[in-house]
Amino acid sequence: MKAGVLGIGAALPEQIVTNFDLAKHLDTSDEWIMKRTGIRERRLLNGSRTLADLASEACTAALVDAGRDAADVDRVIVCSLTPDRLMPGMAPAVAEKIGCDLAGAVDMNAACAGFLYALDDAAALVESGRAKLVVVCGAEALSRITDHADRGTAILFADGAGAVVVGPGELDRGISSFELRSDGGHSDLLYVDNDERVLRMEGRDVYRHAVTRMCEATRAALVRAEIGIDDVDVFVAHQANARIIEAVARELGVPDEKVIMNIELVANTSSASIPLALCQAELDGQLKPGDTVAMATFGAGFAWGAGVMSWKERVGATA
Ligand code: ACO
Repeated sequence: MKAGVLGIGAALPEQIVTNFDLAKHLDTSDEWIMKRTGIRERRLLNGSRTLADLASEACTAALVDAGRDAADVDRVIVCSLTPDRLMPGMAPAVAEKIGCDLAGAVDMNAACAGFLYALDDAAALVESGRAKLVVVCGAEALSRITDHADRGTAILFADGAGAVVVGPGELDRGISSFELRSDGGHSDLLYVDNDERVLRMEGRDVYRHAVTRMCEATRAALVRAEIGIDDVDVFVAHQANARIIEAVARELGVPDEKVIMNIELVANTSSASIPLALCQAELDGQLKPGDTVAMATFGAGFAWGAGVMSWKERVGATA
């Protein structure tokens, strides 16, 4: 049995912070941020809204898009490195809020790579028959762990949530050929210390590793899927920095028109970034039914990976 994506949803907080807003209290400028990162504005979670609320909005939208009932979901996986509480995890709260009364619910943290790790797990659960319908959500409130006085990182990170529904599928490739890797030897280049609780990053080093690893993983995923780069209709990389995405696409030989980029308006939302980018691309008509999608991600750990899938199962195609 193949697994496929049946539906997708996204949720962004209402508060918009532009580069000009940041330049009021940081030694930076719209010009510098745009040129070095491609980011123009970002969304921040505030007030009484929890991240579980935001995640639930994305999951509900994904279920509506899939035309599936929350009561039929048997697993909810929520990826986050910024959950509302240290314990309990967010997944049980999200499952409860969206009406998945009979679902197992679990949190996963693979930093920015979380969504691809969780999507791979979801596909395996469906392919093996251990689950029929899985909701996978990436949800982050990175503003909670950002040093807002550090211009090197405060410009990059933001909040948001994206989700997909995974179930039995019929499309060619399904959700296939993931290459997931890790290397704990560089954990000091990107981390949040337990006491300090703010994100610290050696930006240039992370940049270099991100480009190399996403290229390697994408090539390996293509080999596993037995396709070439020309067979890829759409390429979605973790939206960490427009220059990183452009460098990876250039090295892989993906033409600009196939590269999905939404970092300008949402910044780096870690595990939410790939589903947010996919959702926007579909809305913009850049992602069409039957497209072969290649995805690549890289984040703290380091943990990274890439995968190929067909976009997206038709409503009601399979029960
Ligand atoms: N405004 C103005 N100047 C700045 C800013 C800023 N916001 N930030 C840094 N600078 C300055 C630096 O102080 C430095 O000045 P100096 O030359 O006088 O020392 C100069 O600009 C260049 O700094 P670099 O850090 O070398 O700039 P770089 O071009 O590398 O851009 C950036 C920095 C944007 C952080 C980049 O390195 C990057 O994107 N790194 C990767 C981040 C990433 O991929 N994270 C992925 C995973 S993290 C996650 O997703 C949770």
